[in-house]
Amino acid sequence: MDIPIDFPTVPLSSGHNIPILGLGMSHHGGYSHNALLHALRSCNIRHIDTAKRYGNEELIGKAISESGVKREDLWITTKLWPGDYGYENATQACLDSCKRLGVDYLDLYLMHWPDVQIPGKSSREGRAETWKALEDLYYRGVCRSIGVSNFLIHHLEQLKENCDVVPHLNQVEYHPFQRPQELVDYCNRNNIVFGGYCPLAKGQVLTHPVILRLAKQYGKTPAQICIRWSIQNGIVTIPKSTKESRIQENCQVLDFILGDDDVFSINSLHDGRHVTWDPSNVL
Ligand SMILES: NC(=O)c1ccc[n+]([C@@H]2O[C@H](COP(=O)([O-])OP(=O)(O)OC[C@H]3O[C@@H](n4cnc5c(N)ncnc54)[C@H](OP(=O)(O)O)[C@@H]3O)[C@@H](O)[C@H]2O)c1
Repeated sequence: MDIPIDFPTVPLSSGHNIPILGLGMSHHGGYSHNALLHALRSCNIRHIDTAKRYGNEELIGKAISESGVKREDLWITTKLWPGDYGYENATQACLDSCKRLGVDYLDLYLMHWPDVQIPGKSSREGRAETWKALEDLYYRGVCRSIGVSNFLIHHLEQLKENCDVVPHLNQVEYHPFQRPQELVDYCNRNNIVFGGYCPLAKGQVLTHPVILRLAKQYGKTPAQICIRWSIQNGIVTIPKSTKESRIQENCQVLDFILGDDDVFSINSLHDGRHVTWDPSNVL
C-alpha cells in the first residue's frame, strides 16, 4: 500500500503545524468505528476533524485509545456549537468536548458558525465574548490553536477590532464548485490558515466531465484529483468517508502533481454553489 509516512503540515501563527490532510467525521452519512481505526492504524491519518454537533466525540475517543496511536502524534480539531456561545458556556463546552474525546488538550478549537443568539447581545458582541473564552482557553493551554468556521471577511474584520488573538485558522466550504478566492486571499494576507471542508462537494463533483477527464489522464480517481487540487492550492483538506477502501484512496494524493493548466481548469469550475449551507442566512 503506497501510503505516505507523514503528510506535509501547514504552520499556524500559534506555532503549531497542522497536517494538510485530515479525516472528516461529520454525522452526515454516519460513523464507522472500523473505518476510523483503519485510518489511524493503516493509512497514517493523524488529523481528525470533528465537532460537538456531530455527536461522535466519545466514539472517536474510544477509537483513538483502541488504535494505540499516541496522543502527541495526533491532531484533533473539534468545534463549539452556537448553542454554547457566551463566555461561561463556551468554556464549559470545550472542557466537556475534551472529556468526551478523552484528551486533556485540543489541537484546534473552532467557533462552528458566525451566527449568534445570546439574548440582549448583538451577533458581533456575542462573537467577541465567545472568542474571549477561546482566547483564555488558548492562554491556559487547553486549546493549542483556536479558530473559526464559516466566517466571512466582515466577521473576521470585526473580530480583529474586538479581540487580541487573530484566529489561527478559518474552516470554510471549499471544492471545485465553491472556491471563495477573495476570502482565501484575505486569510493569507492576515496570517489565517484556510481550512477547506467538503472537498468532494459531498460526492457531487466526482462525475463532472473535467474531473473525469483529468482522472483518466493522471491514472487517478476523481476523488484523488479533487483532494490533490485542494492541497495543491495550499488548503488544509478533510475529506470524509465511512469506507476503509475510500479512506485509503483519499490518502494516496502525494505521488503526483497536477499541471498548472489542469489546476486552472479545475479552478474554472467555480460557480459559487454551496453543498451545505445558504450564506444568505449567515448574519
Ligand atoms: N465547519 C463546518 O461547518 C463543516 C461543514 C461540513 C463539513 N465539515 C467537515 O468537513 C468534512 C468533509 O465534508 P463532508 O463530509 O460534508 O463532504 P465530502 O468530504 O466532500 O464528501 C463526503 C462524501 O463523499 C463520499 N466519498 C468519500 N470518499 C469518496 C471516494 N473516494 N469516492 C467516492 N465517494 C467518496 C462519502 O461517502 P462514504 O462515506 O460512503 O464513502 C460522503 O458521502 C466533514 O466530515 C466535516 O468534518 C465541516
